[in-house]
Amino acid sequence: MLWFAVDRSAAVPLTAQVYGQMRSRILRQELAEGERLPSSRELATRIGVSRNVVLEAYERLAAEGFVEGRPQSGTYVAPGSSFERHKETERKNAFSAVAGTGSGVEDAAIDFRAAHPAADYFPRTVWGRLAKEVCLDAPERVFGYTRAEGVPELRSVLARYLLQARGVRCHPDQIVITSGATQALHLITELLSGQTSGCVAVEDPVTDEMRAIFTYAGSTVLPVPVDDKGMIPEELPANEKPDFIFVIPSHQFPLGGTMPIQRRIQLLEYARLRDCYIVEDDYDSEFTYEGTAVHSMQGLEPERVVYVGTFSKILSPALRIGYAVLPERLIPEYRRLKWFADRHTSALEQLILARFMEEGYFERHIRRMKKIYRQRREALVRSLRQELPQAKILGQSAGMHLVVELPDTRFTRELLEGIRAEGVQVYAVEHYALRPGRHERQIVMGYGGLTAELIREGVVRLRRAISRHHNP
Ligand SMILES: Cc1ncc(COP(=O)(O)O)c(C=O)c1O
Repeated sequence: MLWFAVDRSAAVPLTAQVYGQMRSRILRQELAEGERLPSSRELATRIGVSRNVVLEAYERLAAEGFVEGRPQSGTYVAPGSSFERHKETERKNAFSAVAGTGSGVEDAAIDFRAAHPAADYFPRTVWGRLAKEVCLDAPERVFGYTRAEGVPELRSVLARYLLQARGVRCHPDQIVITSGATQALHLITELLSGQTSGCVAVEDPVTDEMRAIFTYAGSTVLPVPVDDKGMIPEELPANEKPDFIFVIPSHQFPLGGTMPIQRRIQLLEYARLRDCYIVEDDYDSEFTYEGTAVHSMQGLEPERVVYVGTFSKILSPALRIGYAVLPERLIPEYRRLKWFADRHTSALEQLILARFMEEGYFERHIRRMKKIYRQRREALVRSLRQELPQAKILGQSAGMHLVVELPDTRFTRELLEGIRAEGVQVYAVEHYALRPGRHERQIVMGYGGLTAELIREGVVRLRRAISRHHNP
C-alpha cells in the first residue's frame, strides 16, 4: 500500500513533498508503469493532508508526464516514466534539496510578483521530446540564418489559433515573431514614434517596463486615466495627435479591467480621426475564469490595430517568443527593423513551439494552467477574505494578478518596508502610476508563481505587517 510521511515542520511545502515522494517512487520503479495510483481522496486520508495538496501534486506529476489520467478510471503511472535515464535528474534534484534551494516558506520571501507564470508546471517532458525531434528532423537550412519574420510553420499555426481564440483576423504574413512582447513593442515604438508628434497615449497606471520602452525611444508619454473598464476614451488628449495609443483592453495591467465594446469603438473612432494606430497588448488574455474571454480589438479593425502577444505567460518567459500582428502597410519596415535588431528569433525554438501547437499540447497546456491559476486565485481571495475582510478586490477574474484596495491603509514606503521585513513582497499600484496620488491604497498581488500554501502564508504575513503598522 502506498504510504509515506510528510513533515509539517519542514520548509518545503506539503504539495512539493507529496510530489517529490511520488516522483522518486516512480523513478525508482517502486510504483510500476501502468500501476493505478490511489485516488486523491484516499491518499490524502492515508498521509493526513488535505485533498487539494494531493490534487496539486498529481496535476504536477501529470504535467511532467509521470502519470496520466484515464477517464472514469483513475490516475496511472505513465509508460516510459520509470526509466534509468531519469537517474541523473534525480541526483541533481537531491543536490538542490541538500543545498537548500527549495522554495521553503520560512527562509524565502514570498513574492507576489505579477505576471510570473508557474515555472514548476512548464511541460518539460513534452518540450524536451519535441526539441529532440526538431533537432533530428529539421532540414539543414534551419541551422543557418532564416527569415526575419519567423518560420512559416509557427506563423501559420499561430494565425489559426489567434483567429479561433482571440478573433484576430490576419494572414500568417502579417505576423512577425519577436523576442517577447518587449521586443515587439520596442520595434513598434521605433517604427511609429516620431512619425508625427513623438507622443504616445498610454494607460495610467501602466507597467513600468512598457513605459520605459516608450520613453527610451524618445517618445513623450501622455497619461490617460483608467477605471474598472480600462482606458477612459473621453480622457484621451483632445489637442494632440499621438503616434499611437497603447492599451491592454482584455485585462488592463495593473487594475484588471476589461474594456467594453462601447469604449473600444470610441477608441477606434478617435484613432481614425487622428489617423493614428492603436497598439493592443494581449499578454495574458488566455486566462479568463468567469464568462468567456472578450475578443481582440484587432478583429474590429485590422488595419488600425497592431496586436501584440507573447508566450511568456502561457509557457515561460525563458523562451523569449512573442509576436506582432501588423497592418499590411507596416509589414516591410517592421521586418527590416527586426532584421537589424537581431536578424531573427531562434528558428529551432520556433519550430519546437509550432509542433507543440500543431500536436495539440498548447491548448491542453492552457486548459491545465487555467485550472491551476483559478485555484491559486481562489486561494488568494479566500485568504484575503479571512485575514483582511475589509479588503476590496479589483479587476476581472482573469490573468495572474489582482489588485487589493484597503480603505483604511496607505501603502507608504514605510509600510512596504514593514511588509518586506515580514518576508513578503507586494507591489504598490502607485509605483505604476504616471500621475501620483490616486492609487495609494492599492497593491498588486500576483499569484501565478505561488502555491496555495505560500499564498496563504503570504497573506497571513501581510496582515501581520499591516496591523503592526496600524498599532506599533
Ligand atoms: C503588460 C505586459 N505585456 C507584456 C509582457 C510580456 O513581456 P515578454 O513577452 O517580453 O516576456 C509583460 C511582462 O511582464 C507585461 O507586463
